[in-house]
Amino acid sequence: MTRYDAEFWEQHYRTLDPTWGTSPNEATVETITKLFTGAGTALELGAGHGGDALWLARRGWTVTALDVAQTALDRIAAQAAEHGVSDRVRTIRRDAATQPLPDGPFDLVFGSFFYAPGRDDIWRRAAGTVEPGGALVIVDHGSNAPWSWNPTSHAHPTPEQVAGALALGPAWDAEILDNRSRLATGPGGQRAEVTDTIVALRRKAA
Ligand SMILES: C[S@@+](CC[C@H](N)C(=O)[O-])C[C@H]1O[C@@H](n2cnc3c(N)ncnc32)[C@H](O)[C@@H]1O
Repeated sequence: MTRYDAEFWEQHYRTLDPTWGTSPNEATVETITKLFTGAGTALELGAGHGGDALWLARRGWTVTALDVAQTALDRIAAQAAEHGVSDRVRTIRRDAATQPLPDGPFDLVFGSFFYAPGRDDIWRRAAGTVEPGGALVIVDHGSNAPWSWNPTSHAHPTPEQVAGALALGPAWDAEILDNRSRLATGPGGQRAEVTDTIVALRRKAA
C-alpha cells in the first residue's frame, strides 16, 4: 500500500512538470474573493506548486505556504521571486500531521486538495490559528479526476460532512458549503469535468 508521506510527495514533485499547479484553483479564488474584500495574512496547508499562495501574494496578501515537500516549496520561492512578491511569501517545510503549525494568528487559513493522515485534527489545529473574524477555507475533491494520483481511495464527503467532522463549535459560522463543477486540465494536458467541494467557515469576531 502506498504511504502518502514526505518521500512520496518529494518524488511526486520531482517527476511533475514544475509549471503545473502554478495557477490558482478556481474554486479557491472564487471563495476567498467572496469572503474578503481586502488583503491580510494567510496560512496555506499543502501549498504544492503555490498557485493559490502566489495568487494571494500578487493581491497584497502575506502568505505562509506550508508543505512537506521541499521540492515544491523551492519552486514556490522561485516563482515568488519571478513575480516580485518574495517579501510576501514565506515557505515552510513541515509535516502538518506530526509537527506543530505556525502560531498565527492569520486572517485566512486554507488548503486546496490537502489530504494528509489525521487531516481533521490538522484542520482543527489550523482553525486555532485563525484570527476572530477570519476564515477557514477547505477546497476538496468532490469527484476523482482521471489523472488523480490516488484514483481509487478518495471518499467524497459532502461539504456538510467535511465541516461537521471538524466539530469547531459555536464560535464558527458556516458561510459557504457547496459543490462546484469545472472543466479541469491534468498534468498531461488532458481535459475533464470535475467537482470541487467547498467549505468556508468564519470565526465569530470576539
Ligand atoms: C494534492 S496536493 C495539492 C497541492 C496544491 N494545494 C494544489 O492545489 O495543487 C497535496 C499537497 O499536500 C502536501 N502534503 C501532504 N501531506 C502533508 C503533510 N503531512 N504536511 C504538509 N503537507 C502535506 C503535499 O506535499 C502536496 O503538496
